[in-house]
Amino acid sequence: TGYVTLDRGYKNTGATKSAITFLDGELGILQYRGYSIEDLAAKASFLEVAYLLIYGELPTQEEFSTFETAIRRHTLVNEDMRKIFDGFPVKAHPMGVLSSLVSAMSAFYPDLESGKGEDQTDAHIIRLLAKLPTIATWSYKRSLGHPVNYPKNNLDYIPNFLNMMFSLPVEDYTVDPVVAEALNVLLILHADHEQNCSTSTVRLVGSSQANIYSSISSGISALWGPLHGGANQEVIEMLEDIKADGGDVSKYIDMAKNAKTTGFRLFGFGHRVYKNFDPRAKIIKKAADDVLSKLGVNDPILEIAKGLEEAALNDEYFVSRKLYPNVDFYSGIIYRALGIPTNMFTVMFAIGRLPGWIAQWKEMREQKEPIGRPRQIYTGATLREFKSIDKR
Ligand code: CMC
Repeated sequence: TGYVTLDRGYKNTGATKSAITFLDGELGILQYRGYSIEDLAAKASFLEVAYLLIYGELPTQEEFSTFETAIRRHTLVNEDMRKIFDGFPVKAHPMGVLSSLVSAMSAFYPDLESGKGEDQTDAHIIRLLAKLPTIATWSYKRSLGHPVNYPKNNLDYIPNFLNMMFSLPVEDYTVDPVVAEALNVLLILHADHEQNCSTSTVRLVGSSQANIYSSISSGISALWGPLHGGANQEVIEMLEDIKADGGDVSKYIDMAKNAKTTGFRLFGFGHRVYKNFDPRAKIIKKAADDVLSKLGVNDPILEIAKGLEEAALNDEYFVSRKLYPNVDFYSGIIYRALGIPTNMFTVMFAIGRLPGWIAQWKEMREQKEPIGRPRQIYTGATLREFKSIDKR
């Protein structure tokens, strides 16, 4: 026990064995349970992928309809939970509201306290999948000062989300299939990414046998940071700044190259594991072009993003450090085209990542992983004598 290997940021530390997601950072490969991300994004529905991640196999028709029906039946959120929303300031960031309310869910299902109620895990999984979109859209409605929309269970998962998000009492709202399909692809691409920061957080919290809601809520908090899921919001804000600045990308490239002194990083660039390209970014870049043209949206920010990418990919600083656009670089441009406001981008990531967090939490419990507890190398004072306050 006296010997500790230091690995800051766990760059080379494998924390677990896992059968969920395969990732090869050199070759740019990402697979969920053996299925390529390209195949799934093109052919599957988000809930099929959720089932695959959580239960290990693609569902049969019968399994899928049981799963989907259960989710439909649990979309409503307890009215007492709705009251909690009223206590938040209108300007509260939806990610803070989301993590608080997911944490609050544990109070509504108290059989979970202290690791009890494991037999209820499937029910809790369904509740999380069903209620996260409701909570997410309510936090958005609250930020607008609008009445919330209740879920409509005749709608599929994504149309239901869109309806709760955009429907107004004064105006009919019809779901555009182009929007629903684009969202389906984005959610699938975000659904899991092995032992990333938020997933490791979910596992670490869950390893103390904390309940699933507390564990997932911690994952949402970890995702919020700008170096992780929060990067998608930062990217758009950065692109808007460049636009307001006259569109000159070179100034931002220079700032990023001097990240050590400027503290500025090119958001949406670089990845801990991908050192060649991020396969998700490749699909999203193409989708951004498709979706914007199908929706007839002309967003000048897309051109700025492409210019920024090109400038970076031709710059020695980025090339030598193997910094490529990641999943967050183009996703915000699609969200914007779909009408999703910037402060909801990371919430969208959370909705997408939820099945992955659940799958990893479940695997961790089933494998009976020990409590996570890293060691340290102590660098503080050696033993010294206590002096009473009047002598200090
Ligand atoms: N802009 C400028 N320089 C960068 C960037 C960037 N975006 N990313 C890394 N670097 C530099 C870094 O300064 C370091 O330089 P040097 O070798 O001179 O010290 C080198 O590249 C290696 O970077 P690192 O910070 O040691 O790499 P990491 O694996 O610890 O960090 C990262 C990975 C994703 C946190 C980082 O690339 C980053 O901060 N990117 C911007 C934020 C971002 O887009 N995050 C989303 C990640 S993908 C989706 C997700 O997880 O949510």
